[in-house]
Amino acid sequence: MRSFRTVACVLALAALTLAACNRQPSPDPTAPGPAPTQDTPVTADRDEHSYAEPDKVVIDDLALDLDLDFDTRTLAGTATYTLAWRDDSADTLVLDTRDLTIERVEGERDGQWHALAFALDDAHATLGSRLVVQTPERDTRVRVTYRTSPQASGLQWLTPEMTEGGILPFMFSQSQQIHARSWVPLQDTPAVRYTYTATVRTRPDVMVLMSADNAPDAQRDGTYTFTMPQRIPSYLMAIAAGDLVFEAISDRAGVWAEPTMIERAVAEFDDTERMIETTEQLYGPYRWERYDLLILPPSFPYGGMENPRLSFITPTVIVGDKSLVSLIAHELAHSWSGNLVTFASPKHGWLNEGVTSYVENRIVEALFGKEFSDMEYVIARDALEGEIDGMSDAEQALALRPGTEIGPDDPLSGVVYDKGAWFLHFLEERFGRETFDPFLRGYFDHFAFQSITTEQFVDYAREHLLAPNPGTVTDEELDAWIYGTGIPESAPRVLSPRLGLVDSARLAWLGSAQLPPQQLTGEWTTQEWIHFLEGMPETLSLEQMAQLDTAYQFTGTPNGELAMRWYPLAVRSAYMLAFEPMTEFLRSVGRMKLVMPVYTALAQTPEGLALAREVFAQARPTYHPITAAAVQRIIDQARPETSPAAEPPADAG
Ligand code: BES
Ligand code: ZN
Repeated sequence: MRSFRTVACVLALAALTLAACNRQPSPDPTAPGPAPTQDTPVTADRDEHSYAEPDKVVIDDLALDLDLDFDTRTLAGTATYTLAWRDDSADTLVLDTRDLTIERVEGERDGQWHALAFALDDAHATLGSRLVVQTPERDTRVRVTYRTSPQASGLQWLTPEMTEGGILPFMFSQSQQIHARSWVPLQDTPAVRYTYTATVRTRPDVMVLMSADNAPDAQRDGTYTFTMPQRIPSYLMAIAAGDLVFEAISDRAGVWAEPTMIERAVAEFDDTERMIETTEQLYGPYRWERYDLLILPPSFPYGGMENPRLSFITPTVIVGDKSLVSLIAHELAHSWSGNLVTFASPKHGWLNEGVTSYVENRIVEALFGKEFSDMEYVIARDALEGEIDGMSDAEQALALRPGTEIGPDDPLSGVVYDKGAWFLHFLEERFGRETFDPFLRGYFDHFAFQSITTEQFVDYAREHLLAPNPGTVTDEELDAWIYGTGIPESAPRVLSPRLGLVDSARLAWLGSAQLPPQQLTGEWTTQEWIHFLEGMPETLSLEQMAQLDTAYQFTGTPNGELAMRWYPLAVRSAYMLAFEPMTEFLRSVGRMKLVMPVYTALAQTPEGLALAREVFAQARPTYHPITAAAVQRIIDQARPETSPAAEPPADAG
C-alpha cells in the first residue's frame, strides 16, 4: 500500500558518492546522555531537499523562545543558534524556511545583538524559501525573530470539537520529512545534528510537550521549558499541546493522552517497558533516558512518529487486544535505528525504516512469539511482492540510484521498509544470531549520534561482518540486495502455518460458500483477518459480501486495518450497505495509510469519484495538511473508467 512516486528530477543530484568518513571514536556505549559535541560529521552526500550548506557552517545548538497562540494559530518568537563555522571564507548562513514571516535577524558580538542583513527567497513548491543571512563576522550566535503561518505544513491546529474531550483545542507537529522548516527556521537536513532547549508560553489550561525532557509531574501553568541534551536531526523536532495527562507504565516509560483516552491507552501499551528491556538486551542501552508515548487525535497522518523520548502514536491502533502494538515496537526501535544512527538524507530511507522494521520484528518475536512475528513478516512481504513489480527498476533498489527523486511527502515504499528488513533477515540467517546480533549492536555503537549513508553501512558490513566470516555471503549477493532490483534469489522464505490455515479457509469459502468453523475464526487475531481479506478476489458478489458482513461485522469495524481492506472491496463490489459507515470512517480518521486505499478505490469510477469529492469536502477541514494534499492528489489524478451512463452523447463535439 505504500505507493512510490517518481517525479522528474529538477535539481542537480549529487552522484551517490562515497561519503568522506569523518568518523569519531565510538562513544562509551553504556554512557547515556550527549555523545560527541564539536565536529558533528557531515556526509559528502548532498541532501537535495535542503538549501543548507553544512560544509560551511552547522547549527550546534538551538534555543527556542516561543508563544503558542491557539487564536491566531501561530508560533511566534525567537530561534537562537550556536553555530560551528567550518569554512573560514564563508560569509552567509543559509537556512530552510517555509511560509515563515521573518521579522529580524541578529548576530551576537561582545555580548550585544546587532542586526544582520538577510534575504528570503521566493518559495519553491516543495523546498520552501531559502533564508540567506549575511554573516561577514561568522558570529557564533545568531538569532531569528519569526512567526509561523496558520497553514504551516508541519503543524495541525485542532478545534475542541476535533478532540476526544471536546473542551480544549489541540495542536501537534509532524516534521518528517521536511516540515520542521515550517515551524522553525533550520538547516532542515538530517546530515546536521544539534542539541536544543525551548521555552513555550501558551494558555495555562493547556499542557505542552516536546521531543525532549518532559517531566511526568509537570504542572499546567502556561509556561513550559524543555531541554534535549542529545544531538538530533531536525526531522525529530516535535511539539504538541492540548488537554494531556500522564500515566506511568514504568519508572522510565509512560503514556500522555487526553483524559478520556488514557486508561485504554495504558492497558493497550503496558508492554512498553518489556519492549525497551528486550531491545536493550539485543542492541545495547536505551540512550534517551525516558520513553513516553503521546496518543494523538485520529487526524494524526501517520501510524507513529519516532520523536525522541516521546513517540507520537495514532489512536487507531488501540483496538483492545494489543494486536497492533508492533507499531510501538517499531517507533521504539527507531531509538536505535534512526534516532541514534540516522540516514544522511531520505534517499537512504532503508537505513531508518528497513533496519527499524527488522528490529521491530525481533522485539515482537521476543514478546509475543515467533508464530506471531512470522505472521507480520509474511503479511509485509506479500504486500511488498505485490507492489514491487509495478515499480521502476531504480525504485526497486535499496540504494536509490542518482536521478531517482523521492517527493518529500511520498509515503516511503515497501522497498524501504520490507525489502530493507528482509535484507537484514537474510544476513541474520546466513551468519546466525550469535554473530549477527553483536554485529548490529556494534553498528549502533560505532555510528551512534551520527548521520550516515548506505555506502557507510555497506563498508562497515564488509569490514565487520563479511571479512571476518569468509565464504558466508559473497560480494555479489550483497550487491544484489543493495543495488539490485526485485527480491534477490538469496532471500529467506518464511512460512506461516497460521496464515496457511487462513488461505485454506478462504479458498474453501470461495468454492463452497461454507464459512470456516467458529472454533477456528474465534481464535483469529487481526493479522489473520488482514490476511483473509488481502487474499480475496478483486470483487465479490453481493451475496458473498453480505454473508461475510453478517458473520463478521466488517462494516463499521473499529479496527482500521480491517476497514482499510474491507471498504475498498465493498466499493469494487458495489456493496452499498457499507457506504454510509465507510464515509463516516473517512470523516473521522485522517491517518493516511487507512484512508488512502478507500479514496483510491472510489476514484476508479465516476460515481465513486463523485462520492470521494463529496466526503473529502466535508472531511478536509479535519484532515492534516499532509493527508489533505495526498487525497487531493488522488482526486486530481483520477481517471475513472467511464461508465455507460456518464458517457457523452456520440455527437457531442
Ligand atoms: N518515521 C515513520 C513515519 C514517517 C515516514 C513520516 C516518512 C514521514 C515520512 C514512522 O516510524 C513509521 O514508519 N510509521 C509507520 C508505522 C509502521 C509500523 C510501519 C506508519 O506510520 O504507518
Ligand atoms: Zn518507521
